[in-house]
Amino acid sequence: MDRYENSLDKIISLAKRRGFIFQGSELYGGLNGVWDYGPIGSLLKERIKKYWYRKVVMEREDVALIDAGIIMHADVWRASGHVENFYDEMVECSQCKKRYKKDEDLGSECPECGGALTQPRRFNLMFKTHVGALEEQSSVAYLRPETAQAIFIHFKNVLNTSRLKIPFGIAQIGKSFRNEITPRNFIFRSREFEQMEMEYFVAPGEDESWYEYWVQQRLDWYLGMGVKQEYLRLRAHREDELAHYATGCTDVEYYFPFGWKELEGIAKRTDFDLRKHAASANKELSYFDEAKREKYVPYVVETSAGVERTLLTVLTSAYREEEVRGDKRVVLGFSPHVAPIQVAFLPLSKQLKDNCRKLFIDMSARFESAFDARGSIGRRYRRQDEIGTPLCVTYDFDTLQDNAVTIRNRDTMGQIRVALDKLANYIHEELKKF
Ligand code: GAP
Repeated sequence: MDRYENSLDKIISLAKRRGFIFQGSELYGGLNGVWDYGPIGSLLKERIKKYWYRKVVMEREDVALIDAGIIMHADVWRASGHVENFYDEMVECSQCKKRYKKDEDLGSECPECGGALTQPRRFNLMFKTHVGALEEQSSVAYLRPETAQAIFIHFKNVLNTSRLKIPFGIAQIGKSFRNEITPRNFIFRSREFEQMEMEYFVAPGEDESWYEYWVQQRLDWYLGMGVKQEYLRLRAHREDELAHYATGCTDVEYYFPFGWKELEGIAKRTDFDLRKHAASANKELSYFDEAKREKYVPYVVETSAGVERTLLTVLTSAYREEEVRGDKRVVLGFSPHVAPIQVAFLPLSKQLKDNCRKLFIDMSARFESAFDARGSIGRRYRRQDEIGTPLCVTYDFDTLQDNAVTIRNRDTMGQIRVALDKLANYIHEELKKF
């Protein structure tokens, strides 16, 4: 499959140049595995999360949203199995002492210096902390390594306070933390990241069909954001790859510049989590099914996506270079569903700034808009191309006479004159065509 040359390096440099992504704690030399999002990157992140929220929660009648704390009681992680099982195998170079996560890409020699690697040791990935003034065993808590557990903890609260009936889902978007041994591939594997997770509760025995349903839904979600179909595939886990709680799992994989990698996991978690928490907390976490006249512990189908991996997917899928009249043009061909800015408003001259700003404020109620009055118009178009803005509206001196503006299309670079009173409708229709 074709891939543009050195694409990851180019994307890292674009991401820095245009204010998408910076190294965490950069002023002090950086903190490995932590990335910060700049003005355009944080908008992109917000739009990806909103698109998930829209498709998984708001456009459905069977999924509710929660927002739980990041620091969670140690007992949650004992019951879920993370204290005991959430380990990676770590190996160390006997010469340079560099540590690596033992995975299939790693041979028996150190990739840095060729020294022999030690036998693997287990390394728990959770960040431990203490709550309160005393650092003792009883004050230990963990930063959550997945958002899913809070959903199980609040299963009954949501059930009792919403009108949901099985089958239904509880969704959450939020930060997760893993002390990864080797964070790498830019933002792909980091120590602090965000997850978009949904646990779908179903009657026992009905999880297989829901699992198949959600695998398809999730694949469609990426296609809906304009990710290239040929760069997406589904991969079912082998028995020996399954997490300790899963009886089946399918990954949505994306063809990153460093190869096919997991983007999202859809898993059958059975009744594992609810049963574990019910036993550990000595509380009942079951459901009375009025239609069936029976009580049971629901089975769960989970969809678990990473915000940053999605962002890297959207960035690499959208990136392209073109030749325009002998010059190189870099374009991010974002879908309007996730483009950080959908329409930029550009006054052609300083004297037109106030009029153009009024138009921008008016339109920003309907579209993700930006106002940019600085630099030559050519440079402004170039900047908008590089941050993936589908449409640019130019306000010029003729506008004062004819009450019309020029709209430029990012992909065709074609320009068309549109009357101000038809502008909102025109933009709305035009955005649908990307
Ligand atoms: N609740 C299930 C769960 O957390 P996972 O496969 O460990 O499953 C789900 O993680 C998703 O979270 C991954 O597919 C990925 O998108 C994201 N993710 C996991 N670890 C990550 C990391 N270190 N950096 C960035 N994203 C990560």
